Amino acid sequence: MTGSGQIWYNRLKWTILLENAPNLAALCVGIRPSPRAVCDLKAMTTHAAVILAAGKGTRMNSRIPKVLHRVCGIEMVCLVEEAARQAGLAPIAVVVPHESQQIETAIGPGVCYVTQTEQLGTGHAVLQAEGQVEAADNILVMYGDVPLVNAETLKRMMRLHDDTEACITLLTSTLVNPEGLGRIVRDRSGAIKAIVEEEYADDDTRSIREINSGFYCFRARWLWKHLNGISPSQKGEVFLTDLVALAVQQGMTVESVLSADAYETIGVNNRIQLAEAEAVMRQRIRERWMINGVSMPDPSSVYIDHTVELGEDTVILPNSHITGQSHIGEACKIGPNSVISDSILGKGCEVISSVIRDSHLEDNVDVGPFSHIRGGSHLEQGVHVGTSAEVKSSRLGRDTKMGHFSYMGDAHLGTNVNIGAGAITCNFDGEKKNKTRIGDDVFISCDTMLIAPIKLGDRSATGAGAVVTKDVAPDSLVVGMPARKVPRKPKSDP
Ligand code: UD1
Ligand code: CA
Repeated sequence: MTGSGQIWYNRLKWTILLENAPNLAALCVGIRPSPRAVCDLKAMTTHAAVILAAGKGTRMNSRIPKVLHRVCGIEMVCLVEEAARQAGLAPIAVVVPHESQQIETAIGPGVCYVTQTEQLGTGHAVLQAEGQVEAADNILVMYGDVPLVNAETLKRMMRLHDDTEACITLLTSTLVNPEGLGRIVRDRSGAIKAIVEEEYADDDTRSIREINSGFYCFRARWLWKHLNGISPSQKGEVFLTDLVALAVQQGMTVESVLSADAYETIGVNNRIQLAEAEAVMRQRIRERWMINGVSMPDPSSVYIDHTVELGEDTVILPNSHITGQSHIGEACKIGPNSVISDSILGKGCEVISSVIRDSHLEDNVDVGPFSHIRGGSHLEQGVHVGTSAEVKSSRLGRDTKMGHFSYMGDAHLGTNVNIGAGAITCNFDGEKKNKTRIGDDVFISCDTMLIAPIKLGDRSATGAGAVVTKDVAPDSLVVGMPARKVPRKPKSDP
């Protein structure tokens, strides 16, 4: 995420952070907490987060670190970090591999980064963060490859952990297919005995459907005391999960929260699971917008990124993709078959079977079918771009019309310009891109070639097929190849 997108996303994160600090707000204005609040404050202990993001992710078969694969436009680890913030966890430490610049850029400032130089397992990874979070009473460990976790669930875990004064509180989930995951082993009374990784499980244990999701609340002092002592597995990895059996042996309390929504515990180790997580998130996003007043006659064929904003009464027709930092105003009609990425659309716009990238469309602009607006273009109010047209790095003034088969590249058009069918800017001379400047109320006839750099004055006009090689003065008409000035017929009286 770059530029304004990053700023917007950071702002969102800070808004969430502030919303989660009501006690802080009360303290700042000197309000005396109610007796109930005093009680809650007493019971509350501090919870820091440790997000694990240093694993190799070999099963993804990718050059991109696993936790940076995106779900509906956002890197998995950023979604986990967002949930941690929303749950009010602080500070947040992220355990990253050596050469982690990409991960740090994606998450940004506001968290601390700890390097795990060698990937010696989840237990070893948590240990690296001790120095950053040692002041906290409790540590909520979160796996950076479980992207759909809800902040509410984390809050439930913390509440139970505090209320029961547990040593460990786990988030578990019951799955139809628990393949590949750590199983929760309980005794006859239902108390947790251990987490057993699938590769070390016997057949009975493998048949257990309750799994370890990768989120744990630990009492910090106990965690730091015992983490160092876990013996590595046969493969040399230190499993964080082994702490559960140890706590049970010591007679400590181990609690669990069963996830109300099993989807939130989807862990992503390969591309199939990535697609599953994406499908769940996509459905959540669509439902959120439909509840907020956006229509989708066929939601299953609509793809909206997490970062997109949509206005009320907008309709999104089948097979449409709205991605990145896109903001669509009210009462727009998008699709069918449209792609809009990193673009801003005002109210009442219509985009049929077209692609809009990195561009800004003001109110009541219509595009398509089969057109492409790109490269930072700006279409002012009421612009009409019809069939099979392309606009690149250009500004089209208010009410300008460009109906059919045209190309405007590196051009600035005034208001109420008419671009005839097949008219184009010849903006590339083989070496560099050149600019075209067209004034207000200009009439460009069909098949005109504008050889840039070139300027056409206000109210000027070209004849059909003109090849315009020289600037055109205001109010004049040019025709032919190369185009030359000819007298204009006076406008006939009505
Ligand atoms: C882990 C759990 C398993 C659980 C599952 C849930 C362990 C031993 N197993 O298995 O019980 O059901 O998650 O999805 O914890 N990581 C590091 N450094 C390392 C190793 C891993 O930072 O040295 C990070 C990874 O980036 C990842 C997370 O820890 O974000 C989990 O590691 P992964 O290898 O994916 O564990 P699983 O095999 O999925
Ligand atoms: Ca995993």
